[in-house]
Amino acid sequence: MEKLAINGGTLVRDTKIYYGKQWIDEQDIQAVADTLRSDYVTCGPKTQEFERALEQYTGAKHAVAVSNGTAALHCACIAAGIGEGDEVITTPLTFAASANCALYCGARPVFADVEMDTYNIDPESIEAKITDRTKAIVAVDFTGQAVKHKKIREICDRHHLVFIEDAAHAIATTYDGVQVGNLADITTFSFHPVKTITGGEGGAVLTNDDALYQKINLVHTHGITHDPILMEEPVHEGPWYYEQIMLGYNYRITDIQAALLCSQLKKLDAFKARRKQIVQMYDEAFAKLPEIIVQKEIPESDTCRHLYIIRLDLEKLSCTRREFFDAMSAENVQCQIHYVPVYWFPYYQKLGYEKGICPVAEEIYKGIMSIPLYPKMTDKDVQDVIQTVTKVVGNYRR
Ligand SMILES: Cc1ncc(COP(=O)(O)O)c(C=O)c1O
Repeated sequence: MEKLAINGGTLVRDTKIYYGKQWIDEQDIQAVADTLRSDYVTCGPKTQEFERALEQYTGAKHAVAVSNGTAALHCACIAAGIGEGDEVITTPLTFAASANCALYCGARPVFADVEMDTYNIDPESIEAKITDRTKAIVAVDFTGQAVKHKKIREICDRHHLVFIEDAAHAIATTYDGVQVGNLADITTFSFHPVKTITGGEGGAVLTNDDALYQKINLVHTHGITHDPILMEEPVHEGPWYYEQIMLGYNYRITDIQAALLCSQLKKLDAFKARRKQIVQMYDEAFAKLPEIIVQKEIPESDTCRHLYIIRLDLEKLSCTRREFFDAMSAENVQCQIHYVPVYWFPYYQKLGYEKGICPVAEEIYKGIMSIPLYPKMTDKDVQDVIQTVTKVVGNYRR
């Protein structure tokens, strides 16, 4: 058996490979440079162009580009009317922002458990957590796989809840042939560099509902309108006149970011195709390793995978997850863990959330690890990762 690098053996790779990385090419750089040379670096034509392109790509009626995915979630919650005393059901297996957005509005996040095979929020657990105070569901397309839309839609309709889809991981994923962004009441995206397309930072809020759109559009820019139809007292002092009609924020994106995103969006289908190829290579390789459990895909989701998660069957291995992670790292394959259950964090513990409330998510968390997945990976990179996982498993096999 090949000796592990962590025990003094030869490394699988000379250079470090990380779990995620952006793809920026000369076209992207040119697009940004053109905007820097133009009259507008913010609130200009590129932001509009990106919003219209996103509407066209997803089929959503309205898209509002914002500064990041967290701002997008905050805008979504405000537009949904979430406030003091309300409850918002979400998953613990996510980035903290999916729950924090409820706290920003004075509401309480309630954690529903996830499914043992897909790792997405479990509709049955959602149903069990609904109370008179429940106002919305923030369902996260974890790793890019679409949540069970049909069931969640039915629950939302029956209980009059707003369906917010945190699709930070899932741009370009479809559910039953429909693009994410054109499914839930409100959908949010993130364009952080590890995500499928990037603006450096950036986000977007999408909806098919005109009234929700109006609120999202207002709240992302101070609650200010220039539209006389929306003004409460349209006293036309002059062309400079605008009104603040609700409390909003400055969550605007810049035209520099929007220019980059317009350019990135043109490559999205190619990014998806490459991500799918890599996922297939991994799936085939890990099917041969009984110590590695892979995420189940539901047939309705044609997934543009953001993360590839291996789950260690620790009963079949003589190491801990930490030892496995360190062994991967020593071979120059830098993994990451997505995610520590949100309510385990000290901030949530101090709010009174107890460990153990979502046992399935906690069980999944114990064994998971995200391995490198990004479109710039070469076939050799992919083979290196497969070789590393196989080598580490081989050394720790019981
Ligand atoms: C599921 C999920 N929701 C929301 C966010 C927040 O996005 P951003 O980092 O753009 O604020 C992230 C980002 O990591 C995320 O993974």
